[in-house]
Amino acid sequence: MSMLVVEGGTPLEGGVYVHGAKNAALPILAATVLGNGVSVVHNCPNITDVNAAVNILNHLGCRAFRDGDSVIVDSSDVCRWDIPESMMREMRSSVMFLGAILARCGKADITYPGGCELGPRPIDLHLKALEKLSIRIDEKLGRINCRACKARGSEISLDMPSVGATENIMLAAVTAKGETVIVNAAQEPEIVDLQNFLNCMGAKIHGGGTNVITIQGVEQLYGCEYTVIPDRIETVTYMAAAGITGGRLSINNVIPEHVQAVASVMKCAGCDIMHGESRIDISAPPRLKSVDYIRTMPYPGFPTDAQAIIMAMLSVSQGVSVFSENIFSGRFKHVPALTMMGANIITEGRTAIVRGVNRLYGASVKAEDLRGAAALVVAALNAEGKTEISGINYLDRGYCNLENALSSVGANIYRCKKENEI
Ligand code: UD1
Repeated sequence: MSMLVVEGGTPLEGGVYVHGAKNAALPILAATVLGNGVSVVHNCPNITDVNAAVNILNHLGCRAFRDGDSVIVDSSDVCRWDIPESMMREMRSSVMFLGAILARCGKADITYPGGCELGPRPIDLHLKALEKLSIRIDEKLGRINCRACKARGSEISLDMPSVGATENIMLAAVTAKGETVIVNAAQEPEIVDLQNFLNCMGAKIHGGGTNVITIQGVEQLYGCEYTVIPDRIETVTYMAAAGITGGRLSINNVIPEHVQAVASVMKCAGCDIMHGESRIDISAPPRLKSVDYIRTMPYPGFPTDAQAIIMAMLSVSQGVSVFSENIFSGRFKHVPALTMMGANIITEGRTAIVRGVNRLYGASVKAEDLRGAAALVVAALNAEGKTEISGINYLDRGYCNLENALSSVGANIYRCKKENEI
C-alpha cells in the first residue's frame, strides 16, 4: 500500500491539465457493450475505476484495451451477460452494465455494486424503473437476475433525480420497443455526455441536461468514436488547491459552466476567477473568507462530490462556514482526519459547522473514500510540517497522478510505500 507525503505551505503557481471525467467515462464504457463493432473512447482517465470497467468488458466477451488516453472496445462478440461479484464490488458504476447488458442480450445476471461507503446506496430506483420497461427481475441469494423478452418503452417518473438510475434507464431503453420518457431525470453533465455518446452510436435520445429525457427505441447501435468531457470534480480539486495555498493556477481543459456553483463559493471566499472557453484562471488571497452556507444539491447545485474538498479548503478561512449534505447521509468521513490536522469542525446529522483556524498542521491520516482522500490532499497542502496520507487506493479510483500535477505547480508532495512494507 502506498501513501502520499506532503509538506504544506507553498502557494501553488502555474498551469494544470484536467483529465476526462470518471463519472462520464464509466457509463460510456458500459454503453460500448451496445455497439455492434468497435468504439474508441478518447480522454478516458487512467484510473483504477476505468481499469475495472475494462476488465468487466473483457469478461463479457468484448476486446477492450487502453491505448494512450483512449480505450478501444470491440463489442462484436459479446457472449456473456453475467458479472461476478468480485467485479461488481470494485465500484458503484458496475451497476451501469445492467442496463447495457439487458439492451444487448435481453438478460443480465449481476450482484449489488460496490463503491465508496457514503451511507446507504440502494439501487431500488434502478430496479423499479427496469420493471416499468417490462423487464422481469428476480433477486435471489444476493444475485439480481433480469430477463427482458422484449423491453417496452414506458413513462418512468423517478422519486429523486438519481444519476445512476437515469443512466441505467437510458441504457436499457435505448433498444426497447417504442418511446421511454424519464420524468425527474438527473441533469448532470455526465448524463448529457452519455446521451451524446449513445446518439453517436445511433440512438435517438433527447432532453439530456433537462429533467425530462425522451428515448425512442432503435433496433441496433454501432461502434463510434467519442471524446469524454473533462472532469468537473478534478477541476474543483485544483481550484481548492489554489485557494488553500493562496496560489494562482491556470486550469486547462475544463468546461467552466460545469463548475459554476463551486466557482460562486470560491468567489465568496475571496478568490478571483476568470475563465476562457476551456480554461479557468484562479487567484487566491493570502487568507480566505468563510462562506455562510453551502448546501449540496443535484446539478446545477453545489455537487456533493465537492463537499469534502471545499470543506478542507474553508477549514483555514476566516470565520464560520456551514455545510449541509443533502445527497448522501454518510459523507463526513473526512472530518475526523481534518480535525486531527487541527481543523475545528463539528458535525450534527447532515450538518457540519467549520470554524476557520489560522493553519493546519501535519499528521498521519487515512482516507476513507475517494473525495475524502482529495480533501486530505488539499488540507495537507496548507499544513505546517509533514502530512502522511494513507488509503490512497481511494484517490487512485478517481485521480490520475494527482501528486504529479500538484508537484508540477510547486507542491511538495510525493508517493512512497508505507513504512514496514517492501
Ligand atoms: C453518482 C456519482 C457520484 C455522485 C452522485 C451524486 C457516478 C459513478 N457516481 O452516484 O460521484 O456523488 O451521483 O451526484 O456517477 N438513491 C436511492 N435509490 C436508488 C439510487 C439512488 O435511494 O436506486 C439515492 C442515493 O442513496 C443518494 C441519492 O439517491 O442518496 C443520489 O444518488 P445517485 O444520484 O443515484 O448517485 P450515484 O449514481 O450512486
